[in-house]
Amino acid sequence: MKILITGGAGFIGSHVVRHFVKTYPKYHIYNLDALTYAGNLENLKDIESSLNYTFLKTDIRDNNQIISLFQEYKFDRVIHLAAESHVDRSISNPLAFVATNVTGTINLMQAALNIWKNLDEHLFYHVSTDEVYGSLGINGYFTEESPYKPNSPYSASKASSDHFVRAYGETYGLPFLISNCSNNYGPNQFPEKLIPLFINNILENKTLPVYGDGANVRDWLYVLDHVSAIDTIFHKGKTQETYLIGGNNELTNLQLIKSLCELMDKKLGRPEGSSEKLIAFVKDRPGHDHRYAIDANKLKYELGWIPKATFNLGLEETIDWYLANKTWLANVTSGAYREYYTELYENR
Ligand code: NAD
Ligand code: DAU
Repeated sequence: MKILITGGAGFIGSHVVRHFVKTYPKYHIYNLDALTYAGNLENLKDIESSLNYTFLKTDIRDNNQIISLFQEYKFDRVIHLAAESHVDRSISNPLAFVATNVTGTINLMQAALNIWKNLDEHLFYHVSTDEVYGSLGINGYFTEESPYKPNSPYSASKASSDHFVRAYGETYGLPFLISNCSNNYGPNQFPEKLIPLFINNILENKTLPVYGDGANVRDWLYVLDHVSAIDTIFHKGKTQETYLIGGNNELTNLQLIKSLCELMDKKLGRPEGSSEKLIAFVKDRPGHDHRYAIDANKLKYELGWIPKATFNLGLEETIDWYLANKTWLANVTSGAYREYYTELYENR
């Protein structure tokens, strides 16, 4: 089976690619990524010479290129993760999110339909976010039946792409799956998202900017649990259906930040309370969703998936990874990897 995984040089995508390359030697994995600021091939150094792995440096916004890649490689199935993924960036540049997340997704589906004849043999698996459902109050959970109510340009673009995927299923019979997942954390996450940004800032003794009062709630999921959910849905999911993925692990931002500060003090051998002193309450993110929480019972009872990681261990492992990979941190923040890999692939 030839599987196209898009966004495989990014945070979640790199863990998905590694898992599929290592677990399924009979599948050939094509990793398609534009290597934006958020993607770098250092994340996949350990599997880059595997016989069942090929990297394709391509932008999903480039329709002609996408069509010709599908014609050349005849991918059987797609797991689509490539996206602009950061809410704050979507507030300052919404159009970039429409171009990649909406138009890019349509380009892929259109190119797939151009070559897929017996549709039952194929699959377009779209990886999405719980943010499409908007914000919860203090009670309740998102389910697969929750109404769409995106509040940020990022979540609106992901909601739009979800709608296009479903519409391609209805209109053209595209066999699809959609999963909507809560906040991921773990190694290889670009230090713009809360956990890696704050680890990096503590290392550099910089301010920790807490938006608003820090009472917003997120449901944290260790990235390898997301990978196992994606594997389960890919192999066992019922096509034309949506599955929600969550960690059953709600924390306010302040609760999370305080645990992170405590652990960082211990790991760095700094006096207790040093990292917490870096906290600064700053102006809230516009349209900041108050709470996300997932009811993942459909995935549990229909497909047998449950998350394995406990948050304390997952957070500690994540911190250990960043402390052991300071060169990675320096090179992603300076753009050095981006320059290196872009040049490498442009010269091929
Ligand atoms: P990321 O920003 O770390 O990685 C995105 C990857 O996509 C990068 O490698 C980047 O180079 C690539 N990319 C971006 N634009 C591209 C384009 N035009 N053409 C080709 N490649 C392009 O993102 P992530 O956090 O790993 O998220 C992956 C997917 O999972 C996204 O679709 C996101 O919406 C979804 N998701 C993320 C989370 C989370 O907590 N991070 C939770 C739920 C869902
Ligand atoms: O829920 C899934 C989503 O989770 C994914 O779809 C997104 O791709 C991913 O970025 C994430 O979105 P969030 O906006 O929840 O993640 P972020 O790490 O940006 O912020 C987490 C919380 O921390 C949020 O309430 C905002 C707050 N925050 C964030 C940053 C970067 C701060 O208080 N200060 C910060 O500097």
